[in-house]
Amino acid sequence: METKPYMKTGRSVSRLGVGGWPLGNTAHGHTMSIEEGVSLVREAYRQGITFFDTAPNYADGRSETILGEALKGIRNNVVINTKFGHHPDGEIDFREALIRTSVEGSLKRLQTDYLDSIILHNPPHDVLKNKTGHFNEFKALKREGIINGFGVSVDTPDELSMALENLNVDVVEILFNIFSQQNRVHFDELQRRGISIIVKVPLDSGWLSGKYSKNDSFTDIRSRWSESDLKRRHDLVEELRKLLDEAGSLIPHAIGYVLSYDAVTTVIPGIRTVEQLKEHLHASKTQITPQRRKEMEDFYHQLIENAPLPW
Ligand SMILES: NC(=O)c1ccc[n+]([C@@H]2O[C@H](COP(=O)([O-])OP(=O)(O)OC[C@H]3O[C@@H](n4cnc5c(N)ncnc54)[C@H](OP(=O)(O)O)[C@@H]3O)[C@@H](O)[C@H]2O)c1
Repeated sequence: METKPYMKTGRSVSRLGVGGWPLGNTAHGHTMSIEEGVSLVREAYRQGITFFDTAPNYADGRSETILGEALKGIRNNVVINTKFGHHPDGEIDFREALIRTSVEGSLKRLQTDYLDSIILHNPPHDVLKNKTGHFNEFKALKREGIINGFGVSVDTPDELSMALENLNVDVVEILFNIFSQQNRVHFDELQRRGISIIVKVPLDSGWLSGKYSKNDSFTDIRSRWSESDLKRRHDLVEELRKLLDEAGSLIPHAIGYVLSYDAVTTVIPGIRTVEQLKEHLHASKTQITPQRRKEMEDFYHQLIENAPLPW
């Protein structure tokens, strides 16, 4: 498994990580018990994965609980990133006075006494402009050895610009995949400053597996897509298949594309099953040639850049 240094801690992480949103998630007809989640995470670790992304609100706290149970004997061999701002009860509340209580809750569920990193979970723009005291609190937690680093999770290049201009972060979690390449403009700057990059939503919420079509309907968070969003994604998948001459799974191309950028520290596709995990492990070994990567960049510039897809 290929690894990269994580933040400036001297720790390394696997370039394929685990996106913890599905762990323990039983909403909208999904099923995953604590035991199933624990065994999935242990299998990921056995296969060489050492980076795990989670948040207090994922599966109402069960994602962190699963990671805590699965990793308790091997805590110092892995890196855990969690978040602040979205709480286990479903509330979204970024008040800085809540940071310590939230961290304590995460530590308890994760069965640990430190967090490798904590990031603000899509915070309001005032926070990204450093007009609040959040980062003073994070710095205090770092001095106390409770966290090793901190950062932000953002979606758009404008938000990432705000963070780069105003904050001194160790890590960012960003939206980046073949269909959403806009954050690529900041890769050089992030790399120059030694800021680790965690890539979220690398499969465009499943579309870049190639398994969905415009006739699929979604009841979960993806129900926000309009009929025209679905049609557009359907057509883009068809175009991508033509470009890649690929009738089967697009996952090796999707994960290989993200990992082809040296600036990317780790990519965190969501997993529900061991079969998905195995496919991602296989995909993470895909070598994308410079020419193929250029074709995928051109694909984005020609078909998507002027009208970015809603996440
Ligand atoms: N604001 C934030 O900070 C934020 C936001 C979003 C995500 N994240 C993080 O990023 C992670 C990844 O994002 P994501 O889960 O939203 O999107 P994603 O990784 O782009 O896609 C996940 C979807 O892909 C499908 N999938 C995964 N592996 C597959 C495989 N091998 N074959 C076919 N389909 C497969 C899953 O399908 P099924 O549903 O059929 O299993 C799931 O619906 C999350 O788990 C979370 O840790 C963070």
